Amino acid sequence: MPEERQPTVPQWTPSTRELDDLELLAAGILPIEGFTGPDGELPVPAITLTVPAATAESARATGALELLDPEGLPLARLSVTSTYDTEDGVGLVGPVTSLSPAQFGPFRRYVRSPADVNVANSFAVPVDAPLTDQALRRIAEVATDTGCAPVLVVCTGAGSPQGVSAPGLVRATLAAALELDAAQVVAIPVARRDVEAPDTAADRWLRERVAQAYGRSLLYPPQGGTLPDRVAAVVAQDRPPQHRRGLVVFFTGLSGSGKSTLARALHDVLLERGDRTVTSLDGDVVRHHLSKGLGFSRADRETNIARIGWVAAEISRHGGLAICSPIAPFDATRRLVRHMVRDAGGGFVLIHVATPLDECERRDRKGLYAKARAGLIPEFTGITSPYDVPTDADLALDTTGRDLSDCVDEIVHLLTLAGWLGTPALPPIGV
Ligand code: ADX
Repeated sequence: MPEERQPTVPQWTPSTRELDDLELLAAGILPIEGFTGPDGELPVPAITLTVPAATAESARATGALELLDPEGLPLARLSVTSTYDTEDGVGLVGPVTSLSPAQFGPFRRYVRSPADVNVANSFAVPVDAPLTDQALRRIAEVATDTGCAPVLVVCTGAGSPQGVSAPGLVRATLAAALELDAAQVVAIPVARRDVEAPDTAADRWLRERVAQAYGRSLLYPPQGGTLPDRVAAVVAQDRPPQHRRGLVVFFTGLSGSGKSTLARALHDVLLERGDRTVTSLDGDVVRHHLSKGLGFSRADRETNIARIGWVAAEISRHGGLAICSPIAPFDATRRLVRHMVRDAGGGFVLIHVATPLDECERRDRKGLYAKARAGLIPEFTGITSPYDVPTDADLALDTTGRDLSDCVDEIVHLLTLAGWLGTPALPPIGV
């Protein structure tokens, strides 16, 4: 009889939020053993894991899925007990078994389990924003009244830290702890359910549940007050003013709409002002380097835009300004870039260069529309390949019959109003 081969267990790298949830499950902080269905398991809110349909199919077939960290290290194994359909794929439900602890990430040594803290003589303080002088006074009072020491539980998960980065919040809390007697600091990756939506009851439940594990009682720090000097210094370093933070200006529009021309002109204006470092990621130029070899199928265009988005997000992470000007015809891919940039801490401004197809075709500087009409170029955007008109653009700009400098002024005005450009050291010098 032929030997029956064991199907191999599929692998998947969960999202940041899902990896944060996995850490809570692995630490045994939650009263459940694994990922839940979309409604949670009362009283626990939804702790979900979504994967693409193909991954779900093989996970169902083998009964398991290995969960990897972003570097490919297996962290845990999920035993699939049931599945459900979601908007973005398939949700998997089942218990998880840890394979190895997560190893990287700043301040990992502060990710302590409740067993490492003297819980009996402590009260827990959930921290999602830098602690103010008022909060510190209240914490000191409670410490004196109860004879217990505070455990500052820094909520570092996706979407939790308010007004600072996750490592910034740990630094700010370490600085605040210096103002208290015998305060301990732990950093726990409690993530918000939906980082773009406002705080929900589920988010509050989760923070409370996690914080409760670290003390006999719980104290919510009062809002209001000012930051002590050393906390303020940490915050100022973590969050420079908006006009020095990373930004991606993303032009989208049909071929010949004027994207590259506008992008180049904006690039020059910004260099003349001198208050920003600027990198240009133009569609045609990127296709000679980063995306060399890619064609114009839907999949290749998505890859092209995702690459541009990845580079732009990294530039924004370091406080730089990236100007992108590909056609980027698909709404979903543009939104993906927006998310990548937001995750890197950068701002994202979408400019739709809304010059109509007729005008682009009339210009036809590269002669491509004529060729596309003659059937010589397949999948040409606007002719034989779709362009999703953005519904989320910050500015729609039809360049028909308009002066270039006029259009660029409009963009600079928008960026200044939105706070992305400060006052240049030198006022503009005319020619
Ligand atoms: S995208 O769709 O992947 O965003 P990208 O901006 O990189 O496109 O490249 C578009 C440029 O490639 C156009 O300005 C044009 O010069 C050229 N090009 C060649 N073939 C096509 C095509 N089939 N559709 C659109 N542009 C094309």
